Amino acid sequence: MNSNSVAMTDLSEMKHKLETVCIFGTGDFGRSLGLRLLQSGYGVVYGSRGLKNSLLLPKGSKIMSHAEAACEAHVIFVAVQREHYGFLSSLASDLGGKVLVDVSNNLKRGLYPESNAEYLSKLVPGATVLICGDSADAKQQVTNIAQSLSFTALDRGSLRAAAELEDLPLQLFPLWRLPLNIAICLTAFIFFYVLTRDVIYERVTNGKDIAFRIMISLANKAFPIVSLVMLSLCYLPGALAGFLQLYNGTKYRRFPDWLDRWMLCRKQLGLVALAFGFLHVLYTLVIPIRYYVRYKTNVYTISLVKDNKTYEFDNTVAWRTDSYYSMGILGFGLFLLLGITSLPSVSNSLNWREFRFVQSKLGYLTLLLCTAHTFLYGWNKFLKPESYRWWMPPAYMLSLVVPCVVLILKLILITPCVDRKVTRIRQGWERQGKT
Ligand code: HEM
Repeated sequence: MNSNSVAMTDLSEMKHKLETVCIFGTGDFGRSLGLRLLQSGYGVVYGSRGLKNSLLLPKGSKIMSHAEAACEAHVIFVAVQREHYGFLSSLASDLGGKVLVDVSNNLKRGLYPESNAEYLSKLVPGATVLICGDSADAKQQVTNIAQSLSFTALDRGSLRAAAELEDLPLQLFPLWRLPLNIAICLTAFIFFYVLTRDVIYERVTNGKDIAFRIMISLANKAFPIVSLVMLSLCYLPGALAGFLQLYNGTKYRRFPDWLDRWMLCRKQLGLVALAFGFLHVLYTLVIPIRYYVRYKTNVYTISLVKDNKTYEFDNTVAWRTDSYYSMGILGFGLFLLLGITSLPSVSNSLNWREFRFVQSKLGYLTLLLCTAHTFLYGWNKFLKPESYRWWMPPAYMLSLVVPCVVLILKLILITPCVDRKVTRIRQGWERQGKT
């Protein structure tokens, strides 16, 4: 091994080691690719400017200077951004006759006159530029058989991955466990909260039994509240991650485990939230046909007739109710769109940018609309002392805390000066003095 190279602890003592492959770049892509190559039996050497990121590299790989790494392999993956390709021209002699694989994507359409791969081949004229692909013979044969049976084969690496795959049927909703537990605990808490505040309070202070409200009124409070809180819990980890990266001044430091786990189950959190939102809509649809609602409306109308009074039209109430219905309907419409685009059959037909647009931009818009729906529903009740029974505010006020926190954090993250910094960090920039 070379004097200034660093060897990672060898995890993968492969019996049938394939050729060594070189990766230029130790960012997210390079590390994921290296891990996959190692799992598939390849030797991996990283070429890097410095050795500071070596701790994050997959175990079993080596890291060395670009020139030394290039000498170790015939196939070289270039996993650095196009702006940093410049260093390749100084390596032209080391790269002569090698297969260079360009794995870059563009950040913007039409930003450069020629493709990244063409640019790369100009910088290193002696090398061959190829698109990467898996060509192991045995796997190809099985893939062909699977395809002829109308299956899609998903290559998951070498035989070493078999143990993990064989355990898959033993797992019971691993990514759904946390969202479902949150949903159950939140529903139970909100339900007992509104039960105390509405039903028990009425019984204790006025001696009235309104327990029948449990079936629809209370359910139609608990479900939308759980939906709104869980929708905001989908976006909270992303915002926290942004602040953590700002604080660390790098994207190369691992997030705490709890944040990683939280981020991984965002889709499930969102789908459970959508299911609760759907229940709210169904419960809302039956409001006009409820016996209790028809009874109250009839009694009120009859009392107006008896007293010869007129029911004055209130413009403000009309505006308020129409606005909060409208926000709810728009929010629910976008919520459905988010749910649909998270289905694999749909998300597979979107590119990364389209998927991000829907899940992030439209996701925040959904959260904003549903929060506005709840604020407008509350209207001026926030200020009325009679809204606070036994010092307990209405449950929807509590439900607004998390969404407001998430929206404020997002607002800070999208202010131009903060956004610029986060974007640079996510593109690989590191604050001076970070290891
Ligand atoms: C309350 C309608 C979607 C969150 C309400 C109420 C109505 C309503 C009529 C008042 C219920 C009552 O008086 O008991 C609608 C309609 C929707 C919709 C028509 C869409 C078609 C949503 C969505 C969310 C949501 C998607 C959240 C993700 C809430 C909340 C309340 C509420 C938190 C307050 C519950 C309470 O404490 O009483 N909505 N809504 N709504 N809605 Fe919606």
